[in-house]
Order: sequence, then structure tokens, then C-alpha cells
Amino acid sequence: MKYNFDNVPDRRGTFSFKWDTLEEEFPDNPDVIPMWVADTDFPCPREIVSSIAERAQHPIYAYSTLNPDSSRFVADWQMKRNNWKIDPSWITYSAGVVPAINRTVLAFTEKNDGVIIQPPVYYPFKNTIVSDGRTLLENNLIYDGEKWVIDYEGLEELASRDDAKLLIFCNPHNPVGRVYTEEELRKVGEICLKHNVMIFSDEIHSDLIYAGHKHIPIASLSEEIGNITLTAMAPSKTFNIAGLQISTIITSNDAMRKRFDNADAVFFIPNLFAAVALEAAYSNEGCADYVDELMEYLWENYRLLEEGLRQHAPKIKCHRPEATYLIWIDCRELQMSEEELWKFFVQEAGVGIEMGNAFGELSEGFIRMNIGCTRAIMQECVSRIGKAYKEKGL
Ligand SMILES: Cc1ncc(COP(=O)(O)O)c(C=O)c1O
Repeated sequence: MKYNFDNVPDRRGTFSFKWDTLEEEFPDNPDVIPMWVADTDFPCPREIVSSIAERAQHPIYAYSTLNPDSSRFVADWQMKRNNWKIDPSWITYSAGVVPAINRTVLAFTEKNDGVIIQPPVYYPFKNTIVSDGRTLLENNLIYDGEKWVIDYEGLEELASRDDAKLLIFCNPHNPVGRVYTEEELRKVGEICLKHNVMIFSDEIHSDLIYAGHKHIPIASLSEEIGNITLTAMAPSKTFNIAGLQISTIITSNDAMRKRFDNADAVFFIPNLFAAVALEAAYSNEGCADYVDELMEYLWENYRLLEEGLRQHAPKIKCHRPEATYLIWIDCRELQMSEEELWKFFVQEAGVGIEMGNAFGELSEGFIRMNIGCTRAIMQECVSRIGKAYKEKGL
């Protein structure tokens, strides 16, 4: 191991969203261990730090562009990691995936057009659709007793509506942790092709794949599916640089890319340090090693959580993640109301989680926990839950 993920700097006092807003977010217990916001507590790869530090020595931080080689580095990364052959000219950039979703909704749909999402899902999908005045079409995932799967009949029913124009797809799927298989992706792609529904595929978590699973970009399945898809990826989750704000938007469809780029009068100028970081992230071997080592570390965190809950809080059940550090946890057997669940985790256990119902109405009784932390914190979180569980006599 080149990276020591046990050794992290204290984030308190750095205006960290996760660590420095506890008074506001958890007023009933600001001493919680924060396991909510979707970033990790790990330093990014040293290659990124040194590139930024070097650039920072030059005292002019004015308007900049990306290194023209950056798109080639992104394409090389996709080839190596996902076996996805893309041309650098297919890539455009955005300040983030959420801004790109908003831009896509505005550029490719009209007021009252239907936009499909598959809850439980990352809540800005819904917020964007609703605030832009589009019709929200929800096709809930189904739990098949083992994992969360797509309701294809439901998807086809919604996609066949005259007003349905766009699917905002999430793969890997936050919060349920699925990495969809080729077969699943083909079905989604075929339905969208058949009914002329464009796909925005949010693949921001696609570098964070656990052993035994393989990420397949939906756009890579066929030329036809690629031609109706905008794929969003980013170095932000992968390398813990979300504060820099940059993402890549990829499509083989030139007209779609132009329409996305020209969606409003404001053309995109990247954050200078984000551009430097992106280039370093995708062009250094060491950064690829970082991701591989990170996934091994996160898996051990997950195992600790799963085993700890099995032993000390057996009515709380984790869904084994196939990707990313966000764990979807089923607490329905506790038979608590949402208020009671919050009280149990936040006030009694002292663990700051996200409530499942933020991700969709059918997610009551679930919570989402971020395990992108040191092993020591993971251990502390498990002990706190076990202790509260015992004290409550559950
Ligand atoms: C699925 C998904 N999409 C997008 C984002 C945020 O992307 P960005 O910060 O690039 O807007 C997140 C962050 O948690 C996410 O989980």
C-alpha cells in the first residue's frame, strides 16, 4: 500500500461542509460523527496536491482554459478503467454534474415535458426537474429480496408517454450502491431508443467499483445508445476534490454536445485549479493506484460495518454495495417512525446519517451512511450504534 488512509488531517476549521456545519445540520447533537455529505475524509493523491501547489506559485489566477491534452487523458482513463473507447473530441466540461443535469433539462426539454428518474435516487435529480417546471416521472426501483433492480415495465410505461423526453439515469446508483450489469443496461437503452427518450447518465461514482463488479458506461453498449446519451463523469468523488468543481460530459453525438454547450449565453470557463487537478488526476499512474487502494480500504470499512451490525445491532441491515462509499441501510425491522430513527442514530448513537426519505417517498425506514472515513472512525461509529442499540434494549 502506497497510501495510508488511516492517517488523515483534521478537517475541522477548514469550512468543511461535512465537519464544520454540525451545529446547523445536527442541532439536537452537534457531537455526532458526520457520516452524511458525500465526500471522504482522505487527502487526494499527492500528484494533484503538487500540481496545484506548483500552479499556485504563479501569482495570476485569471481566466484560464484546460490543457488541450486533458481530453486525451480523460479518454485514456476511460479506455484503461472501463474499456470505453471515446474520442477526445466527444468530451466537454461543466462545473459539476448537478449543473450539467440542470443545463440538460433546460436545453433538451420544454416546460411540462416529462423527465424520468428512478427513486430512491440522489435528490437533486428531482429538485432540478421540479424547479425547472418539468413533469416529474418516477419509476421506483424494486427490491428483489437481494438487490435493487429496475422496474422495466414501469420504465417502458413512462417512456412511452408522449411528454416523456429525458431519463436521468444513475449508475452506479446513489444511494442503493448498484452497478448495473450489461443486461440491465441494454434493457434501459433499448426502451429509451424505442420511445425516443434521451438519456443523461450520471456516472460520477463509476471509478469507485468494488472487486467482483465492473462498470459499463451505458453509452458504450452501441452506437445507437451512445447517440442518445450524455454521460457525466468526474474526478470529484474519485479523488475527493469535489470542492474544486469540474466534471466531464461525454457524447459521440456532435449535435447534442453543441446543444449542451450552447444552452445559454454563458460559455464555460473552468476553475483554474480544477483544470490543473483534472489533468493531474487522469495523467498520473499514481492516481490510478490511489483509487485501487482506496477501494480495498473502503471494502474493509464496509466489512467492519456489516459485521459490527450483524453482531451488535442485527435488526439494522446493510445492503452490500457494488460501488462507492455510500451505504444504504435498511432499518425497517426496528419499526421506528422517521423521527424515532433520527433520534436513535443522531441523539442516542451520535452518528450523523442521511435519512432515506430524502431520496424518495418509498425510502422510509432506510438511512444512508458514508463510510469514506478512517478505520478508527468506522470502528467508533459501529461501537456507538451497538451501544445505543443495547441501551435501548432493541
Ligand atoms: C449521483 C450523484 N450525482 C452528482 C453528485 C454531485 O455532483 P457535482 O458535485 O459534480 O455537482 C453527487 C454527489 O453526491 C452524486 O452522488
